[in-house]
Amino acid sequence: MEIKSFSGSLENINADITAIFYFEEDENTFLNELDSKVGGVISFAKKQGNLSGKKNNVYDFVASLNGGLKRLALVGLGKKDKFNAQAIRNAAGTVIRKFQTEDISSLAFYLEGDEVLANAQAVVEGSIIAEYQSDFLKSNDEKKRKSNIKECTIGASTEVSPTALANGKTVGDSVNLGRTLGNNPGNIMTPKGIVDTAMEMCKEVGMETELLDEAKILELGMGSLYSVGHGSDEPSFLLSMFHKAKSANKPTIALIGKGISFDAGGISLKPGAGMEEMKFDMCGSAAVVGAMKIIGTLKPDYNVIGMIACAENMPSARATKPGDVITAMDGTTIEIINTDAEGRLVLCDAINYAQSHHKVDYIIDLATLTGMCVATFAKIRSAYLTNDEDFGNLVAETADSTGELVWELPTDPEYADLLKSTYCDLKNIGGRLGGTITAGLFLKHFVKEPTKWVHLDIAGTAWDTSGKSHLDSGATGVMVRTLPAIIDKMQNQ
Ligand code: BES
Ligand code: MN
Ligand code: ZN
Repeated sequence: MEIKSFSGSLENINADITAIFYFEEDENTFLNELDSKVGGVISFAKKQGNLSGKKNNVYDFVASLNGGLKRLALVGLGKKDKFNAQAIRNAAGTVIRKFQTEDISSLAFYLEGDEVLANAQAVVEGSIIAEYQSDFLKSNDEKKRKSNIKECTIGASTEVSPTALANGKTVGDSVNLGRTLGNNPGNIMTPKGIVDTAMEMCKEVGMETELLDEAKILELGMGSLYSVGHGSDEPSFLLSMFHKAKSANKPTIALIGKGISFDAGGISLKPGAGMEEMKFDMCGSAAVVGAMKIIGTLKPDYNVIGMIACAENMPSARATKPGDVITAMDGTTIEIINTDAEGRLVLCDAINYAQSHHKVDYIIDLATLTGMCVATFAKIRSAYLTNDEDFGNLVAETADSTGELVWELPTDPEYADLLKSTYCDLKNIGGRLGGTITAGLFLKHFVKEPTKWVHLDIAGTAWDTSGKSHLDSGATGVMVRTLPAIIDKMQNQ
């Protein structure tokens, strides 16, 4: 889908369908004037109850506009006082997905009103995210859901910011890269498949990388990361991607993603039902790769290291067993109580490596870490824990602005006590109760002063198979948009 811009009046847009946004319960002079030009169709539709203005309500009709024939779609944004970028992003996406399967080839959004025009980037993001379909492994195009829109025009009476359009395209493409990583199955997106895809992206945007293979992981003493892939025939990797600030003396942030290409649970094997969804257990790393694509393209003045810890968690005669004690890179000895609590094991060594080799000031780790998180927050919010209130607030505020919502969980030391082992330093689980908190506190153990740290548990938000009007079923690419937005705020601080 090609993104184009247009500036001029509505009747001069050349598209099969032109969509116009409007607010619920709002006196809209533009629509009132349009109504008189199209013979009162709009006021009639309103009377009939077809124009509620509610979020994602789409009403379309054919009308003659100054002699030409146009198909217009009026798209609700909800109440004006509740409006944000997420509302228009999802509304634009809903429009694309609604008309994508029709026999058309071009669609336009005509942005009217200051609030709407200010969100041209979100319209592009929403359109590109909505165009994406998860059925790319169907063997021929006939079997795939139709995707007929070849041209998407963003129009307005004034000029539409070219930067907004370009950035929107970068962000949309990067979210979709994250989704493709997630949607691909475990036999295709193996740990090697994930790092290959990530390194290809780095090459495209000109970012340096460092790839540690299993031998190197072992040599550096990352016994915890090493233990997870031990039962698998697929080798594990730790990949770092580097974006450097233009200015000297800028702080460094590490974004660290859990990249379990498939989580069978290991010797503590998961039940069979729903196990196929554990191909999504690398969505933390997908978020990092997607975010690094944005960062590598838009080049913020900040030092960013994207790290992905990739392994496959399988049972086998070589696999780590419950009761085994392993040693992480910082010397911490860990008693494996449950081999299914593997995400924290790969992440803790990535956190160790980030601090010992790269002198990072900030760390955000992202992981589909606990089933408990899904039980608590469903697919609505990600959970976060932090060791620094200000940094936590910055992450939460940014997440509010991107619409990728988060909620904080506590870090009381009493929770950490649940991780004490009789035989060594730490157990890898703290029992069933408070599972999302103890998982986060396991990671906190490895974060050394004065590193500021936020842990994001995206177990619920990383994929969604419920079917949304603006998003195809499957991986969501959650946090791809938020991570660069956080860095954007930090660079301006
Ligand atoms: N990848 C899972 C967490 C998960 C489960 C994410 C379901 C999304 C949906 C993780 O590795 C895991 O298995 N966690 C265990 C931890 C337990 C053994 C303490 C869990 O949540 O059951
Ligand atoms: Mn697991
Ligand atoms: Zn897992």
